[in-house]
This record gives sequence, C-alpha cells and structure tokens, in this order.
Amino acid sequence: MDRHLAIVGFMGAGKTTLGEKAARRLRRPFVDLDTEIERRTGSTIVDLFANGEAGFRSIEEEIAADVLQTPVPSVLALGGGAVLSPATRAMLAERAITVLVDVDPGRAWSRVEGAGRPLTQDRARFFALYAERQPVYDEVADARARDVDDVVLAAAGVHVERGALQRLGALVPGDGPAALVSDAKVAGIHGADAQLSLGSRLASTHELPRGEDAKTVVAVERLWNELTLPRRGTLVALGGGCTTDAGGFVAATYLRGVPWVPVPSSLVGQVDAAIGGKTAIDLPAGKNLVGAFHWPARVVIDPALLETLPAEQRREGMAEVVKTGLLAGDALWELPDDELVRRCAAFKAAVVLRDPLEQGERAMLNLGHTFAHALEAAAGYEEVSHGRAVALGLLAALRLSGRSTDVVEGVLAPKPVRVDRDRAWAALRRDKKTGLVLLGDDGPRWDVQVPEADVRAALDELIAR
Ligand SMILES: NC(=O)c1ccc[n+]([C@@H]2O[C@H](COP(=O)([O-])OP(=O)(O)OC[C@H]3O[C@@H](n4cnc5c(N)ncnc54)[C@H](O)[C@@H]3O)[C@@H](O)[C@H]2O)c1
Repeated sequence: MDRHLAIVGFMGAGKTTLGEKAARRLRRPFVDLDTEIERRTGSTIVDLFANGEAGFRSIEEEIAADVLQTPVPSVLALGGGAVLSPATRAMLAERAITVLVDVDPGRAWSRVEGAGRPLTQDRARFFALYAERQPVYDEVADARARDVDDVVLAAAGVHVERGALQRLGALVPGDGPAALVSDAKVAGIHGADAQLSLGSRLASTHELPRGEDAKTVVAVERLWNELTLPRRGTLVALGGGCTTDAGGFVAATYLRGVPWVPVPSSLVGQVDAAIGGKTAIDLPAGKNLVGAFHWPARVVIDPALLETLPAEQRREGMAEVVKTGLLAGDALWELPDDELVRRCAAFKAAVVLRDPLEQGERAMLNLGHTFAHALEAAAGYEEVSHGRAVALGLLAALRLSGRSTDVVEGVLAPKPVRVDRDRAWAALRRDKKTGLVLLGDDGPRWDVQVPEADVRAALDELIAR
C-alpha cells in the first residue's frame, strides 16, 4: 500500500485521463510525468526533444526516479517511452505497482495524429514503434487496465478474470511453495483444478470444516499444526468467506505471518470477504472477535466458480451486491456476473485502499449491518441467514435515509423475521456504539446519530408480528 501506482502504455492510450480518475478515486496525488518535466525544466517536451531524444530521456529518467522516491504514494502517468530506461524499470519494480493501459495502435494514432507531439508525425513509424515497445510494456506491467475500476483493482492486488483458477500457479506471487486450504465441498468441485494449476509449487493440501465451523480456535489450531510452509511459502485459501477468513487468519499468525492468496469461490467472497485484508475467527461471545489485518499478496477472483454455487448461497451474496450498489449509487445488481463481480470488487477495493485499517470511511461498508447483527443475535444466528438479515437491515437503513426501498424489495424480497423484539433491541444497542451508516444526498455517511425512538421503530418494522 505504500507503493506508487504507475500507469504505463503507448502514446494515445489515455494514461493521463485514467491516472487522474484513479488518483481522485484513491485520493492520492496525481503526477503526469510530462507535465512535471515541463514544470521543472521550464521547457516544453517538444523543445526538449528537439535538442535530441537522448538528452530528453535522461531528464525523464531523473525526474521519474525523483517522483518514485517520494514517500507519499502517488498515481504517476509515465510518457510512452519512459519505460525504455532500464533504471526506470528497476525503480518501478521496486517502488510501484505498474499498470499497463492497452490500446489498439490505429485508435492511438487517431487520437494523437497531428497533435504536434514528438514521434507522432509519421504513421508508419508510429506503428513500428508500437510493435517495438510492446515487449517492454509486457515486461514491466504487474496488471493491465481498460478503465479506472481495473486500475483500482490492480492497486489493491485484486485480479479478476474468468478462468483465473486455471492460471493460479502463475498468479500466486513469488516462486516458493504453496499450501492449498479449502473446505471439503469446494475442494471436491474446484480443488483438482487448483492443484493442477499450482503444479510443482503445491506443497500440501488442507481441509477446513464447512461454514462458520472453520472460524474456530479448534479448526485453525489444526491447520497451524498441519502446515509445513517456510516463511517464503504462500497459503492459498480457496473457498467462501469462512475459508478465506480462517485461512487468512492462519496466514497472519503462522510463523508470525506468511503471504496468502485468497481465491474466493462464493459471491460473498468475490464481492466482499476476500478483499481488504480483514481476517478473523469467532468466539463463543460473538463473530469475528479474534483476527488480524493481513493484506493478501494477491486476490485471485474467477467468476466462473460461481456457476457451481447453490442458489441460496447466491442470494446471500446478492445482499452484499445490493449494499455495494446502493453505496456506489449505481445499479450494480443488474450487471451480468463477470461485470457485477468486477465492479463490486473495485468499489470495495477503493474504499479499503483509502482506509485500510478501518479508522474512518471503511465503516460505510456496514450499511444495514447494525440491524442485521441485531436480528442475527436475537435469532441465535441459526434461524436467520446473514444475507436475509443484511437485506432487512438495508430496508431499515433506506427508510431512515428517507429513500425508497424498491430495489431491496425487488431484488432481495426479504421477509420479516420472527425474533424477540426486546432481545433484538438490546443487541442493537450493544452494537450501535458509533452511530449508523445512512445514505445522504452526497453519498454514504457513517457515524450518523439518529434518535433512539426512530432506530427502534425501524428495527420493529423488520420483525414479524
Ligand atoms: N473478511 C471480511 O471482510 C468479510 C466480509 C464479509 C463476510 N465475511 C465472512 O464471510 C463468511 C461468509 O462467507 P460465505 O457466505 O462465502 O460462506 P461460506 O464460506 O460458508 O460458503 C458458503 C457455502 O457455499 C459453499 N461454496 C462456496 N463456494 C462454492 C462454489 N463455488 N460452489 C459450490 N459451493 C460453494 C461452501 O462450501 C459453503 O457451504 C462469514 O463468516 C463472514 O463473517 C468476511
């Protein structure tokens, strides 16, 4: 997270526009290298180039190094030829996450033709240069992007690709051994593909119990004892949110922390649980009471895995999708699966990058959850599923925000639950230490203080008479 985000690609790829958007989304400073060069030298790029390309490249290299050495991570858009410098490539490898913005050369030409930039006077030369530079871009890129969501996902180390499970061996960073952890059901369906893809890197396979039973001291202790990974080994957690929460916690604690790669297989996991570095197990006193922030080395999301997900598990995930769409102000729930997952994951990635340790705005991700937790606690966690509780919680949050509840009714259609009202209210008061998350005119607000009578009335509406 302390790395710069470097945007590279050919002339006319749209690096500056995308870089500016990403910087706004991540609230980081934006530096356009060409503009910075003109500012520092007091000359235009055209004039500097006119004195010889070699001279220009050495100024470019020096200023790129200087920007990459600043401690505050920025979004930096580099000129198309900046990565020709081996020194700049080495600096990028050390100090940045480098994202390649791909462009078709014909499209790039139509954008830059006649713009008076150096190297854009001759079409044939432009195309030749494009072909020449592609291998350099490929070498330097940690990820590729078409839009700002892709850039944000790359910044968070989240890789979304249909078929990614088949490329897992290449996508798990480093070249050390990997321990594969999953629950029996997911292992039975997708474990063989994961094992095959990890190939000779696969050191061991491990099973966690299904569901919340994975998030227990007993289950993680067994896993600690089974593991034989060295420090440079990677724990790969393939499964739903319970597997990634427990697997991530084991990775955070085993040998005082080993790298880990969640491969979420449920919708809850792909749009929420596997992103953001929160890992946890439960205690008898409550869920997620013991855990750690442990940022994954990479998150590998393959939307094709959702094809084997049972319908009721999909509904669980849709509650988080609707929550994300409401927070983003965009009907993400209407998108086809691959795009739905990519856009929701990108929304969460941006929030957690802005607030990795949950000291402020990350709290917005709890929209509807205060009510959900109260209903779950009153029902003893058995009777009411988390997804249904979240859907009901969203109804309450929308009502208190003065918004229509049509989307939640239409997409999630949650039925009121039969729980003890006083128990639910007591649980809500315990949980509501810091106010509620509501939707305001300018977007989500958190820590909103609402009169107790209104909160209680909103809770009552969720409980069957
Ligand atoms: N760390 C976080 O930021 C975060 C965020 C949200 C939720 N969570 C946690 O996530 C957990 C819930 O996650 P979940 O809903 O994924 O539950 P889960 O891990 O229990 O998975 C649900 C069920 O679906 C099955 N399954 C998963 N993928 C499948 C597939 N592709 N095909 C067939 N079956 C599949 C699993 O075997 C399991 O039975 C909770 O413990 C919650 O606290 C964590």
